[in-house]
Amino acid sequence: MKPIPVAVLGATGSVGQRFISLLDGHPWFRVVALAASDRSVGQKYSDAARWVLNEPMPDYARDMVVLPANPDSVQAQIVFSALHNEIAKDLEPQFAQAGAAVCSNASSYRREEDVPLLLPEVNGEHVQLVKIQRQQRGWSGCILTNPNCTSTGLTVALKALDDAFGVKKVFAVSMQALSGAGYPGVPSLDIIDNVIPNIRGEEEKVEWEPRKMLGKLKDGKVDFADIQFSAHTNRVAVTDGHTVCVSVGLSASHSADPESAEAVLRAYAAPLSARELPSSPRPAISVRSEPDRPQPRLDRFTGKGMTTVVGRMRRDPILDLKFVVLSHNTIRGAAGGSIYNAELLVNENLL
Ligand SMILES: NC(=O)c1ccc[n+]([C@@H]2O[C@H](COP(=O)([O-])OP(=O)(O)OC[C@H]3O[C@@H](n4cnc5c(N)ncnc54)[C@H](OP(=O)(O)O)[C@@H]3O)[C@@H](O)[C@H]2O)c1
Repeated sequence: MKPIPVAVLGATGSVGQRFISLLDGHPWFRVVALAASDRSVGQKYSDAARWVLNEPMPDYARDMVVLPANPDSVQAQIVFSALHNEIAKDLEPQFAQAGAAVCSNASSYRREEDVPLLLPEVNGEHVQLVKIQRQQRGWSGCILTNPNCTSTGLTVALKALDDAFGVKKVFAVSMQALSGAGYPGVPSLDIIDNVIPNIRGEEEKVEWEPRKMLGKLKDGKVDFADIQFSAHTNRVAVTDGHTVCVSVGLSASHSADPESAEAVLRAYAAPLSARELPSSPRPAISVRSEPDRPQPRLDRFTGKGMTTVVGRMRRDPILDLKFVVLSHNTIRGAAGGSIYNAELLVNENLL
């Protein structure tokens, strides 16, 4: 297969750097353009980006000159967007209009009826919405979105439990890593020795996004899942990896003991179309049996950062079951997720 030319918008940021790293040697995609703000435009990528990942900056990116983020300057079949919402709102449709498939991390278009909010291992079939999007908007490109990084692991775990037992209620408390706030993000004096019990706009996202992803695609629309959510979102002094403590109420609560729930999670597999893609999580869900796992520092790179890690499954005295879920926020919850979405789009012949 001829490599597909791809570009990264917001290439210098927290998520942008993950894209640069994950796209190094990608079997299908070749990075042809990197874009960022006026601050970086015209500089070599190695000068413009303050590289914060543990792995070295890939050689292919070092000498690439950072371009302005517009479709005249950046031409690629797939455009990965790691832009902030306000900027994404304006720029992403311009790229779709110019014929690019925009795989976005921003929340600007997640709520639109004709825009897929995708986790391929959960709702890969929702990618078909791009056909309706193209008809309705008259563009040859498209916009695909991935969810907020806290909704990500939570929704993967809920999908397995919903298929088996029917999820009715979810109470979730997050402990979210610093890289989720971008770079430079939260000031050190605010977060060292501290927990910040508020992340602007985050609770609303965690309360509605899983309902769209767990919904059924019917007559060209997503029928949202009938699940009640309550979320608390907190910033903690962890570099990468969002941990969420979850309690769930189930329809089939009589059959949902902790052992069967663990078995269901372990056996969960992505739909066939999303199972063998280059970025497919292997396995989709990993279940830890130790009493003190998952932990972000130890478990965030499970399945190269694409696997959702669940542990501490037990009975909940108020609802039915409770557990802990961990997911790497800039890999599965952002750049890796977008790349997985793009692979699904290609695999479904929708590029
Ligand atoms: N971090 C996560 O875990 C995570 C997870 C899921 C989703 N997201 C979403 O992903 C997006 C990026 O987040 P981030 O954490 O990577 O942010 P970030 O570290 O602040 O990076 C922002 C990037 O956008 C560029 N930029 C700023 N203004 C621009 C403009 N006017 N035109 C073009 N580029 C511009 C910046 O370039 P300069 O360096 O040149 O300023 C930088 O490359 C956000 O929408 C965020 O909500 C993040």
